Amino acid sequence: MNPAKTDARRHHDPEVRGFASDNYAGVHPEVLAALALANGGHQVAYGEDDYTEGLQRVVRSHFGAGAEAFPVFNGTGANVVALQAVTDRWGAVICAESAHINVDEGGAPERMGGLKLLTVPTPDGKLTPELIDRQAYGWEDEHRAMPQVVSITQSTELGTLYTPEEIRAICEHAHAHGMRVHLDGSRIANAAASLDVPMRTFTNAVGVDILSLGGTKNGAMFGEAVVVLDQDAVRKMKHIRKMSMQLASKMRFVSVQLEALLAKDLWLRNARHANAMAQRLAEGVRAVHGAEILYPVQANGVFAKLPHDVSERLQKRFRFYFWDETEGVVRWMCSFDTTEDDVDAFLAALKEEMAR
Ligand SMILES: Cc1ncc(COP(=O)(O)O)c(C=O)c1O
Repeated sequence: MNPAKTDARRHHDPEVRGFASDNYAGVHPEVLAALALANGGHQVAYGEDDYTEGLQRVVRSHFGAGAEAFPVFNGTGANVVALQAVTDRWGAVICAESAHINVDEGGAPERMGGLKLLTVPTPDGKLTPELIDRQAYGWEDEHRAMPQVVSITQSTELGTLYTPEEIRAICEHAHAHGMRVHLDGSRIANAAASLDVPMRTFTNAVGVDILSLGGTKNGAMFGEAVVVLDQDAVRKMKHIRKMSMQLASKMRFVSVQLEALLAKDLWLRNARHANAMAQRLAEGVRAVHGAEILYPVQANGVFAKLPHDVSERLQKRFRFYFWDETEGVVRWMCSFDTTEDDVDAFLAALKEEMAR
């Protein structure tokens, strides 16, 4: 018997995985090992430590010499802090209606950041210059919150991707109107892995000004970083991060996790694996009569429409969420630790429940 399974301090079965969220996964063993390595002895608090310096070097190797990383605790914090760094008190953010900042952050950009969100419905989670124009107006009108930044998500909340050219067009359009561009990169690794390009190809190389760099969904215990590519925002960031309760005192433990992911190819291995599992899942689902895949599967998420009773029975066997219960849409996420056996067992269960 595996002693790890019988240890009374363990409250779950470490062999059970579902498709609810890439945040349901644990910590990649290489990240855990890096955390242990950073432990012991004293290091300067609040970011003046050697691990945060190491992270700066690694981030610059990905995003260029002008990039500055600000480690934070979580993705919502990264977004709210980043958006404040590129807006004035009267500023507003143009984003897709489906954006995490609009749907899943408890109103934090509005409440904590004091930012008005100007949302646009999109067919697939992606903005375009034309869609941005639905909200990009009224800069001289004091009755309207001023659009100062466009926020896009890569990969999107619907598992789709922007090409670098699409992001370039958005940046050119936004900049021509005096707006900055923020990229929510909670799943930036999945995007880079799928596009098979370095992260800089669809960020600073095409004009993105500031980004939220994800770590948690990629195998960290917790921790993300705001990567500032626009020097004007660097000065503001330091103060906004602290005011927003995102300045970690023992920052070395956030930084070392991101360093472990990004220094070599762990970030890419993890993302490629999660994406491959989503492809395997999508391929299997396409062969099941009555299940319909809704969006192109371009990262690590699969969205499908199923008969309601089938979803409910399947949920008793595997964890996953309804995305839109009225429409019968469900979301299945794959992570760095999803196995081929997990996918195949899930597909077999789906077939069984469909046939009942
Ligand atoms: C696109 C996107 N952005 C940001 C986040 C931030 O998440 P959290 O604040 O839970 O770390 C998430 C998490 O699900 C996400 O999917």
